[in-house]
Amino acid sequence: MAIDDTKTFAEVLDKRRILICVGSGGVGKTTTSAVVGLQAALSGKRVLVLTIDPARRLANSLGIDEIGNERQKIPLERFQEIGLEPKGELWAMMLDMKESFDRLVQRDAPDEETRDAILNNRFYHYFSTSLAGTQEYAASERLYDLHEEGHFDLIVLDTPPTTHALDFLEAPERLADAVGSRALQWLYKPGVLSGRPGRGLMAVGTNYVMRTLGKFTGGELLRELSVFLRTFSALFDGFEQRARAVQKLLASDDVGFLVVTAPDTLTVEEALFFHDQLGSEALNVDGFVVNRVHPRWVDENTLDRGERELAAKLEALAQRMDHFPESLDFDAMAASMVENALQFQLRADQDAGSVVHMSQELPSETPIVQVPYFNQDIHSLGGLDTARRELFG
Ligand SMILES: Nc1ncnc2c1ncn2[C@@H]1O[C@H](COP(=O)(O)OP(=O)(O)OP(=O)(O)O)[C@@H](O)[C@H]1O
Ligand SMILES: [Mg+2]
Repeated sequence: MAIDDTKTFAEVLDKRRILICVGSGGVGKTTTSAVVGLQAALSGKRVLVLTIDPARRLANSLGIDEIGNERQKIPLERFQEIGLEPKGELWAMMLDMKESFDRLVQRDAPDEETRDAILNNRFYHYFSTSLAGTQEYAASERLYDLHEEGHFDLIVLDTPPTTHALDFLEAPERLADAVGSRALQWLYKPGVLSGRPGRGLMAVGTNYVMRTLGKFTGGELLRELSVFLRTFSALFDGFEQRARAVQKLLASDDVGFLVVTAPDTLTVEEALFFHDQLGSEALNVDGFVVNRVHPRWVDENTLDRGERELAAKLEALAQRMDHFPESLDFDAMAASMVENALQFQLRADQDAGSVVHMSQELPSETPIVQVPYFNQDIHSLGGLDTARRELFG
């Protein structure tokens, strides 16, 4: 939807090397990331859209079968099929967190023996796949590497849904903390290592860990744990250093955040909360995308006057058909269609109200761009291009 801030929004692409799409679940982060990537690629940049979404939504909409751990270039023919001629390149990559974590170990382990000891350890396996925050951490590390490598003009990062916009940013530090001490301390507690059911929360943890790690005897578990703690501690320094570097990058002017939201009241409140969280860390919020906005089709006057006219049109249409039931009540049909349109109108009004509310709450220089509710999911490059025209005018 063309609005005054469209230009500012396009300028963001020139300003940043990394754009991170954040927002609540299902609002359109993956779609927006792809749309932003597409726009940048068309305008001449070499762009990577980095996703963590294991669903194949991004691959589908980019017209490729699958996105793997390795970056993949969207073939030129895909664009040409829909009449687009990108001046740049669009690449996509799916971030596999287990693989990303393994890479960290491979990189930071002091020697091959330590590396193998970690990678083959079942605690490590649990740690690298199940501990809260590992996903965000692996993503931020990978982002850092890709940025340092300098192959892409722009990296667009699609994040998993979070309730806290800074999960991603804080992940390195939290993880370093977790590895360092607190979170692992409970493993030493009696009952955990023997697998005997205990009480309360600890028992839940115990049983979960025992199930995750499979059947161990207490001795095996102890041995495995001590190997994990000993070998993994060799990586602590690397973790901390990297955590600091990643944080510094995310807070730099190379990086901007796009907050994606749906227009309903609750989701908008969450988006405004994200904005405050990002702002409190002095991060760059480059704009808001209000996705799935119900557009206004007709004005109320037309609807009021239209009922009789519509009934007449329906009747004329029916008479042109070969067979139609005599008993059709065209007035009733027209009335329910108008009622339906009025309900839709109401949604459109509510959505417009949300956007006004956002513009009152946000600093005037923060662009808010709207994308309408399309009548079908966006699952092709053509669909992304339609959304792109709305976003960038
Ligand atoms: N403007 C729109 N109109 C119609 N459908 C849309 C629109 N934007 C997104 N969709 C569809 O909504 C679904 C969810 O979008 P998307 O996957 O981008 O959300 P997400 O925020 O990444 O979700 P998650 O939090 O689960 O990762 C997709 O099927 C997508 O095609
Ligand atoms: Mg997604």
